[in-house]
Amino acid sequence: MTTMNPTSLRTHSCGELNETNIGQEVTLCGWVDTLRDHSGVLFVDLRDRYGRTQLVFGPESGPESLGKARSLRSEYVVQAIGKVAPRPEGTTNPKLATGQIEIRVSRLVVLNPSLTPPFQPGQKELPGEDLRLKYRYLDLRRAEMQKTLMLRHRMTKIMRDYFDELGFVDIETPVLGRSTPEGARDYLVPSRVQPGTFYALPQSPQLYKQILMIAGYDRYVQIARCFRDEDLRADRQPEFTQLDLEMAFVDVDDVVGVVDGLVARLARELLSRDLPLPLPRMTYDEAMERFGHDAPDQRFGMELIDLAEVAARCEFRVFRSIADAGGRVRGINAKGAAGRYSRKGIDELTAYVQQDFGAKGLVWFKVEPDGTLASPTAKNFDAPLLAEIGRRMDAAPGDLLLIVADSFEVTCKALNGLRKRLAAELKLYDPGDMHFSWVVEFPMFAPDEEDGGWAAMHHPFTSPRAEDVDRLESEPAKCRAKAYDLVINGCEAGGGTIRIHDQKLQHRVFRLLGIDEETARVRFGFLLDALQFGAPPHGGIALGIDRMVMLFSRMSNIRDCIAFPKTQRATDLMTGAPGEVDPKQLRELGITPNRQ
Ligand code: AMO
Repeated sequence: MTTMNPTSLRTHSCGELNETNIGQEVTLCGWVDTLRDHSGVLFVDLRDRYGRTQLVFGPESGPESLGKARSLRSEYVVQAIGKVAPRPEGTTNPKLATGQIEIRVSRLVVLNPSLTPPFQPGQKELPGEDLRLKYRYLDLRRAEMQKTLMLRHRMTKIMRDYFDELGFVDIETPVLGRSTPEGARDYLVPSRVQPGTFYALPQSPQLYKQILMIAGYDRYVQIARCFRDEDLRADRQPEFTQLDLEMAFVDVDDVVGVVDGLVARLARELLSRDLPLPLPRMTYDEAMERFGHDAPDQRFGMELIDLAEVAARCEFRVFRSIADAGGRVRGINAKGAAGRYSRKGIDELTAYVQQDFGAKGLVWFKVEPDGTLASPTAKNFDAPLLAEIGRRMDAAPGDLLLIVADSFEVTCKALNGLRKRLAAELKLYDPGDMHFSWVVEFPMFAPDEEDGGWAAMHHPFTSPRAEDVDRLESEPAKCRAKAYDLVINGCEAGGGTIRIHDQKLQHRVFRLLGIDEETARVRFGFLLDALQFGAPPHGGIALGIDRMVMLFSRMSNIRDCIAFPKTQRATDLMTGAPGEVDPKQLRELGITPNRQ
């Protein structure tokens, strides 16, 4: 328990008194958690963020205090003065740090009453999220929220200490700046002084940290707030926090190694776990092949199995046509799951891959006790081919084999989705497990769906691997980047790259991305200029702190890891932001609201 210094209003916190304090006169302050009246003796649990202490009001408290105690209600803030006494035999609570003692109150001061709260911070059943967000101050009184925010505090403290020890310098970068290309929409701030112009809130400090390398601060770190106007999900917020770092004179192993050390320290101090280093690494191509995803959840197996050879040899139209058209036939083996999924259950899985991932269908087989594969589709295959499917998929009696034939992308998405869904339904991992790994060597470019050209897979400042520089223009799809993502439990916790430090190479990459000279000059002219004034080789990474807290505290929602988060619709239910502003402010900015 954290030790707390006394203040002028209290001598102790509600979490620290125990048998060693018996007989002492103490003053506690806190919120009324629960009240119980036992034939004239009143018991009040007083709560603060350190714990709970039982106050007792009996005849010896005097009529004034007893009278006041009877008027108490949930969430009143009070000050109680009294003596620490042992709890009577049979009434101790070993689960509570203060469970051996109680305070016999002699004086009670109501510091502030409370309206009847819409929910009790101590109630077992969690209230609806909208109510929790509207009354966030009540929600933040809940023990679970406090635990998560304490973990967050400890995490950032460990981060700061770690990087300080390694000689990193914490440097703040502007919030009002120019657009930084991280692939999301910007939040814009109109300039009053220069009407018609806008600042963009940073999607990340990317360009500033590169400039800092050019400026000679070879180890930069910052806990930076980032803003991205994008569709929100359980692991995304419009404003979030990154542990952002950049290093000069480094290559991939250096940055990854520094983060390995950090992750090991976090695991040791926050989870009491020793992680063997280096953390495992896998290339992007291998991750897509084995798991169908670039942030594979490796807490369980059920890896993707390639059935190209079977497809090429079979007469089954669905497989053959896909194989002939250059698609992929791949599957997973849900070990022992045949009994768990009825025809209806499998129909649901089929609808899932069709609706959520655009798959044409799902071929399945149940493995019979004699090892044969049974399914309405089985008649399309001769026995040796069925046996071959079983052999390739390591089939054993009771297994459920699920196969998707489609484009590479669809097989990846559908099988990754199925893998995760089945693992959760079949409880293939302990929710307390943690798996840390790296995915490296991402493609430089991804097809740009909007203009048919290429988009940067990470961002446009990412360096290609040395062996791919010569084929940037001739084979862009094959070029791999010096990029690395930290993956925890199937979630992208961080991502970074070694940057381009050569202005000519930067121009070539811009050209490939369809950013012409003029646009490059307007948007990133300052970086292109700086690259010509002695830019050292450099690279870095950013870890999503909110996501890290979510993973380390085993929460499933990023909003539970942020004191004042936004809803899926990017609103703050407590303050009402975004809200309307004074028309005068708009006039000053030259803005006419256009509300639909
Ligand atoms: P990237 O865009 O991959 O890289 O972001 C790094 C990490 O930030 C977290 N993150 C988010 N967390 C919550 N809500 C969001 N909307 C959100 N978006 C991203 C993720 C992600 O892995 N400048 C580069 C880093 C670099 O190259 O050094 C960048 O921002 O955990």
